Amino acid sequence: MTRPPEDLSKTKSRIQEAASKPLQSAPPRKVGAYTILGEIARGGMGAVYRARDAKLGRDVALKMMLGGAWNSPDAQNRFLREARLLGDLSHPGIVHVHDAGLSEGAPFYTMDLVDGNALDDYVTEQKLPLEERLRLMVQVCLAVHYAHGRGIIHRDLKPGNILVRPDGSPVILDFGLARMAEPDTRGGAMTMTGTVMGTPQYMSPEQAQGRTKEIDIRTDVWALGVILYQLVTRRMPFQGEEALGILKAVVEKDPAPPSTVIKRLAPDLETVMLKALAKESSRRYDTARDLAEDLERFLKGEAVRAHPDTTAYRMTKWVQRNRPLAAVSAAALLLVVSVGSWSILSVIRAKNEALRQAGLAREAKETSDLEAKRAQAEAERALKAEGETQKALGASSGNCGPVNSSSRPAS
Ligand SMILES: Nc1ncnc2c1ncn2[C@@H]1O[C@H](COP(=O)(O)OP(=O)(O)O)[C@@H](O)[C@H]1O
Ligand SMILES: [Mg+2]
Repeated sequence: MTRPPEDLSKTKSRIQEAASKPLQSAPPRKVGAYTILGEIARGGMGAVYRARDAKLGRDVALKMMLGGAWNSPDAQNRFLREARLLGDLSHPGIVHVHDAGLSEGAPFYTMDLVDGNALDDYVTEQKLPLEERLRLMVQVCLAVHYAHGRGIIHRDLKPGNILVRPDGSPVILDFGLARMAEPDTRGGAMTMTGTVMGTPQYMSPEQAQGRTKEIDIRTDVWALGVILYQLVTRRMPFQGEEALGILKAVVEKDPAPPSTVIKRLAPDLETVMLKALAKESSRRYDTARDLAEDLERFLKGEAVRAHPDTTAYRMTKWVQRNRPLAAVSAAALLLVVSVGSWSILSVIRAKNEALRQAGLAREAKETSDLEAKRAQAEAERALKAEGETQKALGASSGNCGPVNSSSRPAS
């Protein structure tokens, strides 16, 4: 399974390594009352250390936020306030935060030291069958739902932020704190330096477009959908050149239907996956628990609550995304759904109605003779394929008889 390059946690058994790995840049030192024993991971926003809590006689994970953005008292206060909120969370699927403070102006917090591997590594290494992967996702969704119930949105859910313990239980890390540096970056779409933050592959369209006001718990539902897609298909749903290309795909493209990636994938599971990845948040699961429950229904062999998008909806979206081709395509799309007795002429006439319904009346007016001819040629080809050419074309003055076409639109 491919890990996005931005991710920190490439290492295996980080905990064991950290104990033996001396600090490269500085000798072991103190952070507050904690003695740093080794580095577990380091990223753009901060570093995570294994540290000794002498008072309680145990090792903890200590995360230090690095960089100038934390210099302002405002940012520091926000960080400490948020850390306190996280400290109140108590759920086996969420890392427990013990303490937070400032060390020479740099905010840090301590938490349980989790011995585990990143979710995607774990799934690959353990060669988990589909059912087990889905069960893990259910647990992750329920943990996320618990945090949502306490007013906390993660905003950066991805396999690198989810460790799986040796007993197979997942633990979510990295809740929100890295995004506390500036008030207007709470959505997680931008870093303190103004560039895109986080891992583009897991960002929702509203994050990718910086529509921070629209970020809510369904933003996390999206990321859960990406992780689910990744765990099921072993592919990322949105791909592209560099971060910008990926973000463009997130906003503009539909993921490849999972059933085209994995043979014999159950249609219900595909429906669940695609609902979590609906571009419009109102079409996603309302809560992470709803997603968990549909996955559980699927695992029990029950019908899921999610419904596939209707043909009409898919047509509308498709037409909207392909506006320059809309006039031609609307005719072709109509042919796809014309399972009744449509004459070619009525198909062409009905095209204008479809365009109106899709909010494309302007394009409809501009439909040229050429487009009509193309639509007619398309229909004629379909008729021929059905072996009904003679009957369908008939002898009447241009009325071409019934059309039963199952041809698909070029996409
Ligand atoms: N409590 C912890 N126990 C063990 N490892 C941890 C813990 N917290 C973080 N890590 C490791 O450090 C990595 C980076 O931590 P994270 O909080 O995700 O920081 P970042 O904001 O840099 O992504 C994680 O992917 C994980 O491998
Ligand atoms: Mg992280």
